[in-house]
Amino acid sequence: MTSPQLDPVRIGMLFSETGVTSVIETSQRIGTVLAVEEINSTGGIHGRELQLVSHDPQSRPSLYRSLAEKLIVEDGIRVIAGCYMSSTRKAVIPVLERWNALLLYPTLYEGFEYSRNVFYTGAAPNQNSVQLAEFMTRKFGSRVFMVGSDYVYPYESNRIMSDLVLERGGEKVAEVYLPLEAKRADFDGLVRQIKAAGPDFIFSTVVGESTAMLYRAYREAGLDPERMPIASLTTCEAEVKQMGAEFAAGHITSAPYFQSVDSPANRRIVPALQKRFGPEQIANQCLEAAYFQIHLLADAMRRADPDDVESLLRALPGSEFDAPQGRVRIDEQNHHTHLRPRIGRVNASGQFDILEESKDRVRPDPYLVSHTLQDWSVRTGLRSRA
Ligand code: ACM
Repeated sequence: MTSPQLDPVRIGMLFSETGVTSVIETSQRIGTVLAVEEINSTGGIHGRELQLVSHDPQSRPSLYRSLAEKLIVEDGIRVIAGCYMSSTRKAVIPVLERWNALLLYPTLYEGFEYSRNVFYTGAAPNQNSVQLAEFMTRKFGSRVFMVGSDYVYPYESNRIMSDLVLERGGEKVAEVYLPLEAKRADFDGLVRQIKAAGPDFIFSTVVGESTAMLYRAYREAGLDPERMPIASLTTCEAEVKQMGAEFAAGHITSAPYFQSVDSPANRRIVPALQKRFGPEQIANQCLEAAYFQIHLLADAMRRADPDDVESLLRALPGSEFDAPQGRVRIDEQNHHTHLRPRIGRVNASGQFDILEESKDRVRPDPYLVSHTLQDWSVRTGLRSRA
């Protein structure tokens, strides 16, 4: 039980409820709320209730920046959970650093970044891209067609994927960007280009609402995922539900978590999620990171002064939690998280069949200092279920 006599510990929340990434960010908000409610039901932070103060940044980087400043300066908040697109995280970082506040960021991203004021709980490239490049070139071939949304994560993620595929003696057939607000006709044109180029696979860094348009245009053009699938780091259960499983089935995603993971924590969380938010609610890698990062924060807050950023900066590194994907840990050196890479293929019911998974957690290496394509199978003891 929390005590109404004690001041709450307030946390800011910046996930878009409107705009192009509202579907995935709504799921991140749900993951955050679920964790906060669990923590409060078991006594909060030494009897103090965790309280969320939430704003809607409408998928617009400039609003993330101004609302982060509002949370810090007007509401006196020191820790914010939020952001999906890397453009929104990059908009917030100068504000965090200026006011010495913290961001917990629950989204896979392109790496090559470190801020003392950010804890990164989604996958870095050595925890999803390396595995995806290795898997796709081994199973399908090494001619890749790249398509992305027009902003920083797709540019950088495609650069990394190009390097990884070239390392395998492969070839980048094309690299195409479409606006975040692209229309269905744009994707029909793109799919014609893909058909003409005939790659071995497509690497998509398309995010948000247009993800559904890409997969639908692909299927309606008669392309076959058995022969030339779309591989992605972002297309997860939320996007699959939005587009309809029949359009996503057969395509591949690399992520540390799928709802189909068989773990004690996941067997508990999925029913709890559906009891609280309705039987239709599904989990995904971004919801899961949003959920476990609040538990990591609560663990640090119980060992530290929850109102003092310097104290939390000492307590968060090394924090561990039995997350639905397996036990996770915040790295002491680089503020990223030790995670468990997996490769999944969408099945007819919109869930992912897990084809391969790492036996152990993989240490985050956001600058890709020491990876090779073989790391995944050799260093992590790859277990194949294909
Ligand atoms: C992303 O922009 N980090 C998905």
